[in-house]
Amino acid sequence: MNLGKVLVTGGAGFIGSQLLKRIVPYCEKIYVIDDLSTGQYSAIPKANNICFFKDCITNVDLLAGLLPHVDYVFHLACSNLLKSVSNLEHDFYVNLYGGFTLLRLVQKHCYKLKRFIYTSTVSVYSNAEILPTPEDYYKISLPYAASKFATEHYCAVYYHLSRLPVCVLRLSNVYGPGQTTENPYCGVVAKFFEAAMAKKPLVIYGDGRQTRDFTYIDDVIDAILLAVNDDKAIGQIYNVGTGIETSIADLATKIMQITSFTNGTVIHQPARPVDIVYRRAIDAQKIQKELSWKINFSLTEGLQATYQWLKRGKKE
Ligand SMILES: NC(=O)c1ccc[n+]([C@@H]2O[C@H](COP(=O)([O-])OP(=O)(O)OC[C@H]3O[C@@H](n4cnc5c(N)ncnc54)[C@H](O)[C@@H]3O)[C@@H](O)[C@H]2O)c1
Repeated sequence: MNLGKVLVTGGAGFIGSQLLKRIVPYCEKIYVIDDLSTGQYSAIPKANNICFFKDCITNVDLLAGLLPHVDYVFHLACSNLLKSVSNLEHDFYVNLYGGFTLLRLVQKHCYKLKRFIYTSTVSVYSNAEILPTPEDYYKISLPYAASKFATEHYCAVYYHLSRLPVCVLRLSNVYGPGQTTENPYCGVVAKFFEAAMAKKPLVIYGDGRQTRDFTYIDDVIDAILLAVNDDKAIGQIYNVGTGIETSIADLATKIMQITSFTNGTVIHQPARPVDIVYRRAIDAQKIQKELSWKINFSLTEGLQATYQWLKRGKKE
């Protein structure tokens, strides 16, 4: 694999930093733009071919300077789901206006673009009536879902008007090494591990019977790279998830077992405004059939690997 020159937005975040680790050997140059609002500078691998810009994805001058050199764009920067309900304007600005701005400038300046990967979300399914949920379903309830879904539409617009080689991946509850509680908005797996390893009660919002479809980070990076390397992915939207439902209460039990915190307890707090999804299972047959994506990590294997990483002090 030779990726030439690459732009990764959100490269200091959970998924971005793990993507960087995987692609460093295959890139001549990697430009990373991240404003460090939730990401950590320390998460970016130390490599001579990485050039970091602490900046916002809406910096037009910065983008205009970088994009003419770039072969691949990975657009991961985002404002998250939790924040979206308390600050709709910010969510709109970063996720929709930021995504649109990037697409507009990529179309204008990236004359040798081979792929634009956009990491969208299964939040566009809200509390779906169809399980496992396929790509052609949608139900928008929260600001984050609206801004991410609208940006998917602009990906489609630039594909149809300008043949921009876009691919949208809708990710589902990603967890694993790289996900840390330094980001206060991080996912439930990192929060449960932190509590269990500190021998503190695990906090569950709501009754704990709500389910999620948890996807291990390495499997997600595999999906991103398949979408980069296979031209069938151009112009497509793919779900990336396991199809397996796990309740939050069962996740808590599993993490307490893995961390040998078997006499641990959970405490319940009222559901938050974002906790509107009662069941989640994703139909990922399309990416499995078209791009030969495989799930290599069961939830137990992924949680074990995450625990080993945490025990090593979050080092490789
Ligand atoms: N983690 C998941 O479970 C999950 C699920 C579905 C979709 N996604 C998508 O995957 C992508 C990455 O998510 P993540 O979990 O790594 O999140 P993250 O919060 O860890 O990473 C996002 C990064 O974007 C940066 N950022 C935020 N606003 C910015 C701005 N205006 N300009 C530049 N950088 C900015 C943050 O500092 C952070 O480093 C996002 O697009 C998200 O919507 C993630």
